[in-house]
Amino acid sequence: MAEKDNNKDAADFGIGIPVKKNPFFLKGLEHADWGIKDRMSRIFNPQSGNTVMLAFDHGYLMGPTSGLERMDLTITPLIEYADCIMCTRGALRAIVPPTSNKPISLRFSAGTTVLTELNDECLLDIEDAIRVNASALAIMVAIGSKYEALTVKNLIRTADMGAKYGIPTLGVTAVGKELVRDTRFLALASRVCAENGATFVKTYFCETGFEQVVAACPVPIVIAGGKKLPENEALEFAWLAIQQGAAGVDMGRNVFQSEHPVAMIQAVRAVVHDQRTPKEAFDLYNTLKK
Ligand code: 5RP
Repeated sequence: MAEKDNNKDAADFGIGIPVKKNPFFLKGLEHADWGIKDRMSRIFNPQSGNTVMLAFDHGYLMGPTSGLERMDLTITPLIEYADCIMCTRGALRAIVPPTSNKPISLRFSAGTTVLTELNDECLLDIEDAIRVNASALAIMVAIGSKYEALTVKNLIRTADMGAKYGIPTLGVTAVGKELVRDTRFLALASRVCAENGATFVKTYFCETGFEQVVAACPVPIVIAGGKKLPENEALEFAWLAIQQGAAGVDMGRNVFQSEHPVAMIQAVRAVVHDQRTPKEAFDLYNTLKK
């Protein structure tokens, strides 16, 4: 019998049933392309709307900082607990098992180390980001610095390249030594990133007015951890950030420099995804570390 003969006639056209709409769960991205939404849905958990990103890209700037001397020993065991990993291509190829199957926020700009002032940052090659199956391109943007225009240009170029291949751009707001991390600065820097094409923004938590920073940024914000704090304090500010509208954390030192990093990342998850209070999360940390 010919393939075209005796096929069941199409009859179930659902006439009168409105076409289903699927509003996207992350703010400001309703009109993003399918590939961008697909990757963002891998980075952010569609149930909680949030993400726990594990940042260990510090070596590109700081060299072998505490906790990252042997990433194969300290970072590899943490990967399974992260929703997304943020790292350089060097660390990725050296210590991340491809079988981890985690979305990667690839450090996409580089050029400055702690030995110099911020300088002439350059971009990686988009082909290499595609080669390693990056889910986001992380770009440093130094608002208020001498290199403001260069880093904004890098962001714009990255957002354009990312858009071409459906890869989101993460605008990472850098704070120069002379700048204060207050509401006004963080709101301005985050907004500049979003306006110039960042799909999501990484910035710092501030004690007062963080809600305004989030409200004024039209795309999701994740917060950096910053320098190592006692575990209960780190859980407290992660909780405050989530309560005030952050869509997650992109934490490094407060996880991998913890005395018990595997317990700490799970406690952070409890705050970010399960709406646990800082006290409950700290109790969980103490239980897990045993
Ligand atoms: C550096 C970064 C780091 O990834 C970021 O600061 C997160 O790490 P930490 O929680 O240790 O601050 O973006 O530019």
